[in-house]
Amino acid sequence: MSDITIIKTDNPGTLPDENSLGFGNYFTDHLFEMDYNPQDGWHNPRIVPYHEFSVSPANTTLHYGQGIFEGMKAFRTVDDRVVLFRPLEYLNRLNRSADVLCIPRVDVDLVHKALLKLIEIEKNWVPAKQGTSLYIRPFIFATDPYLGLRVAENYKMAIILSPVGAYYAAGFNPVKIRVEDKYVRAVPGGLGEAKTLGNYAASLRAAVDAKKVGYAQTLWLDGIERKYIEEVGAMNIFFKINGEIITPALTGSILGGITRKTVLEIAKEWGFKATERRISIDEVFEAHAKGQLEEVFGTGTAAVISPVGELSWKGEKLIINDNKTGEFAQKLYDYVTGLQYGEVEDKFNWVETVTKA
Ligand code: PLP
Ligand code: COI
Repeated sequence: MSDITIIKTDNPGTLPDENSLGFGNYFTDHLFEMDYNPQDGWHNPRIVPYHEFSVSPANTTLHYGQGIFEGMKAFRTVDDRVVLFRPLEYLNRLNRSADVLCIPRVDVDLVHKALLKLIEIEKNWVPAKQGTSLYIRPFIFATDPYLGLRVAENYKMAIILSPVGAYYAAGFNPVKIRVEDKYVRAVPGGLGEAKTLGNYAASLRAAVDAKKVGYAQTLWLDGIERKYIEEVGAMNIFFKINGEIITPALTGSILGGITRKTVLEIAKEWGFKATERRISIDEVFEAHAKGQLEEVFGTGTAAVISPVGELSWKGEKLIINDNKTGEFAQKLYDYVTGLQYGEVEDKFNWVETVTKA
């Protein structure tokens, strides 16, 4: 594997106003890319000025969706360092998604090295305001110009960077979520555990229906019995019932979130009973009826910790914790963002410094 080539732009841009970044609107000056073919494997890793890609109209990803991606973040700490949060977890998950989609694995050490270099070059694009970050989007797609259905022979990997604010317009305020009872997203044996294009395409029409009636996202139930809770469109989900922290087990149809893993590890460290198991929507409604449903919140890289104030299922509405952010979700949010912004001691060793102050 060759060294990483670096070509810098002559025309660098500037970070937009940190108060109005939104999510995924702006891109930095450079990207990382490399290519794969059967003769050379992954080759020509390079950091180059941000540019458009041109693809064949017969590009197999456009037609059959053989693509995967990741989503992680870099933060500017209060003492002006630029840091990454658990980067290897995300890069290893990229390879697990690659296995599911029959895409050749990447060399995690090389991509990690390239990522550090890219972030260092783009360090001025990492915003400083609390709640902002530099969102990192690694992705891989097939590049064969071929209309037959088969595993492609050629691929491109790239990493693009986007300075972002909060994912939800509501920020850290409780969101309203609709439990989907008509459509399904994934089933065990399918693609649900991979971060692949089709899972997001599968979520769109339910999201449109939910939005029409005033809900921010969809909570998916299992695709077979339509009974057990899976995950939200872009987050994993947690329930606090009678003091216990519960999240659906990874049964093959949901994404093993890095934030989910982080929250489970923190909850255990704090002495909570934190359980991964099957949990049905009936159990959640029953717990609420008994006054035992203390909190509901989502977890995700883009969404961070996102309290859920209302769940609606088949027309029935559950108002959770008076539609207010729960104490546990607040404490988690403060702790996780505290680690990310360098305000809390990194005792788990999750934070990697890219550039010093
Ligand atoms: N589930 C889905 C479908 C997602 O897209 C995401 C976001 O990445 C998550 C869960 C949360 O995963 P993570 O915490 O790794 O970002
Ligand atoms: C993330 O949280 O990083 C995601 O990939 C979700 C995406 C839909 C924005």
